[in-house]
Amino acid sequence: MAKPIGSLAIAAVVPLLAALCLVSCTGGDARWCAPVPSMTVEQACDAVCGTAHMLKLCLRTLQPRARRGGGEHRRRRDDAVTRYVGAAARGALDAYAATAAAKRGMQYSAALPAEERTAHERCMAGYDLAVRFMGRVAGDLASCETAAARLRDDCDGSLAGMDACRRKLFGYPASPLYGRNLADRNKTMLVGLLSNLVPMPTPPPSP
Ligand SMILES: *[C@@H]1O[C@H](CO)[C@@H](O)[C@H](O)[C@H]1NC(C)=O
Repeated sequence: MAKPIGSLAIAAVVPLLAALCLVSCTGGDARWCAPVPSMTVEQACDAVCGTAHMLKLCLRTLQPRARRGGGEHRRRRDDAVTRYVGAAARGALDAYAATAAAKRGMQYSAALPAEERTAHERCMAGYDLAVRFMGRVAGDLASCETAAARLRDDCDGSLAGMDACRRKLFGYPASPLYGRNLADRNKTMLVGLLSNLVPMPTPPPSP
């Protein structure tokens, strides 16, 4: 039976630092990597989600099988939190791709103002940015050194891409892209929230 880590997960990182492993990095640099905590999907989602909506999105993202199976076969085993970040990142990438496909499939009537078309193009430039950053998130998880350098930055970069799109669409809230972007932004935020469960390596203590 797993210990009820839940919302204590982040606080647990501190004691975990007592059980550090030294990992050498490129360039002779060295960082201390704390072990990656494991917990259930419910514990991970409870620990990082502040709203009922986000909690639902989190559970739906990390338990696709439970949903299809009606919830009865929901797995309650512990998994490394990095797996959850990776799964959420792939979910966000799928959402970006679906929005980009929807944009490509849009039929523009001649009545649509040219500025709105341009806004859509600029919005998609934000998506291109988000795809690049989010695509790196899964890779970042492969080693603690990379996680230290980039995981937070990559999550922030993806969110910046979503916000860049939103700013272009502010004048066009009726656009189908506007609503899609809000939903995609939440999926992006979820990845950032879950990434808070991944302990950041720290420089080794000075002698
Ligand atoms: C995004 O999440 C917030 C709360 O976390 C919620 O209020 C909002 O409705 C969500 N937006 C979409 C489009 O899902």
